[in-house]
Amino acid sequence: MATIAPATLPGEIASAIVNPVAYGQWSELKDKFRWARDNMPVALVQAEGYMPFWAVTRHEDILAISKDNARFLNAPKSVVLSPVAVQMLTHMITGGSPHLVSSLVTMDAPEHMDYRKLTQSWFMPKNLANIEARVREIARSSINAMIATGGTCDFVREVSALYPLHVVMQILGVPDADEPLMLKLTQEMFGGEDPDLNRARSVELTPEQISQLVVDAVRDFESYFMAMAADRRTHPRDDVASVIANATIDGEPISDRNAAGYYIIVAAAGHDTTSASTAGAMWALADDPEQFARIKADRSLLPGLIEEAIRWTTPVQHFMRTAAEDCEIAGQAIAKDDWLMLCYVSGNYDERVFDSPDRFDAARGPNRHVAFGAGVHQCLGLHLARMEMRILFEELLDRVESVELAGTPQRASSTFVGGPKTLPIRFVAR
Ligand code: HEM
Repeated sequence: MATIAPATLPGEIASAIVNPVAYGQWSELKDKFRWARDNMPVALVQAEGYMPFWAVTRHEDILAISKDNARFLNAPKSVVLSPVAVQMLTHMITGGSPHLVSSLVTMDAPEHMDYRKLTQSWFMPKNLANIEARVREIARSSINAMIATGGTCDFVREVSALYPLHVVMQILGVPDADEPLMLKLTQEMFGGEDPDLNRARSVELTPEQISQLVVDAVRDFESYFMAMAADRRTHPRDDVASVIANATIDGEPISDRNAAGYYIIVAAAGHDTTSASTAGAMWALADDPEQFARIKADRSLLPGLIEEAIRWTTPVQHFMRTAAEDCEIAGQAIAKDDWLMLCYVSGNYDERVFDSPDRFDAARGPNRHVAFGAGVHQCLGLHLARMEMRILFEELLDRVESVELAGTPQRASSTFVGGPKTLPIRFVAR
């Protein structure tokens, strides 16, 4: 195919793609992505304060890049969109690395697979079956807390923000008393852009102030997990923290920075994301009582509900890649070292793959969403996320007769991990 002249996205669309607030205005944002898919599926984004990058908006191209791990790398540049000012600060703090935290998502082959293998079996269905009973207990007490509100609550605050956190903390081995701290740090790390979630609770923040919030959260995470690693080296237990603390690669213990990064990615990636898709599922059910009744009556629809909620919510809204060589995507010439954004939101609403993508349809099949990514970095926790959601909704459907929206839900202002930050519901419990 012949290469076409570089396409540059119109300013209005480019500025929305980099603007956290735009991700809270979901339906307008989806319209902009639709325009990009139809007119410039691989297009340059030139936005003030950001290095230029390519927005990849079609499902097909997102998938192809995600699977081509030799040509599209994670290590050379930030894997999350960040302003130039933040990138400079990161370089300064880390002494030259583009990544504040070193973790699986910032590594390429062969290092990436060495590290991924350390915990991969923990997150496989066979091992997860061993923790299913414990997860169900946590789910049951979450539903009890919801029912104790008496029939009206903010589902995010009462249930979805806390439940996946409890689960992942159990897996890591973090004591119950420290969970509020982990929740706060994760929200600050991922939600630094949202005034309701960030540390300073201030509306007007400069990119430098936002990045300082994130840096502080990462520091607190690191010091917490360093202490935990020291403890698990002397007193190993049956938890993921012990696996990481005592891990060796080629006979050498992994560095403190890499161990801390591993805890952080599991702790952080493991709950805000699943909180978002859990809330997304509840939102869709509260908005469509008939669908709720159908699924309540026929539990075989549950896996479809979960998959559709993950697509519909798209908790991880993008990841970035860096081109390892000159190449071409959808006829567009990409140069070595170019920075690309995999726009998962757009891919998951691509009408070339999904009929009526705005419609929430638990019976949608096949549901080939890209919310978990693809290729060697495909989400390590995808089986866990699905299991957590299945168990929570099994418990909920057993106890709740009906549910409806009691206000307008709001999505968080964040370019990276997003989803409902408030979900007012009214319900009738048994
Ligand atoms: C609905 C919930 C979740 C969503 C939507 C989600 C999404 C993602 C995405 C998009 C990626 C990057 C994939 C790529 O680059 O191709 C990823 C990676 C990752 N996720 Fe998840 N995730 C979820 C839940 C979890 C959970 C529960 C864990 C718990 C441990 C987890 C741990 C990770 C880790 C460790 C990685 C890095 C994998 C690697 O780079 O090899 N995630 N996730």
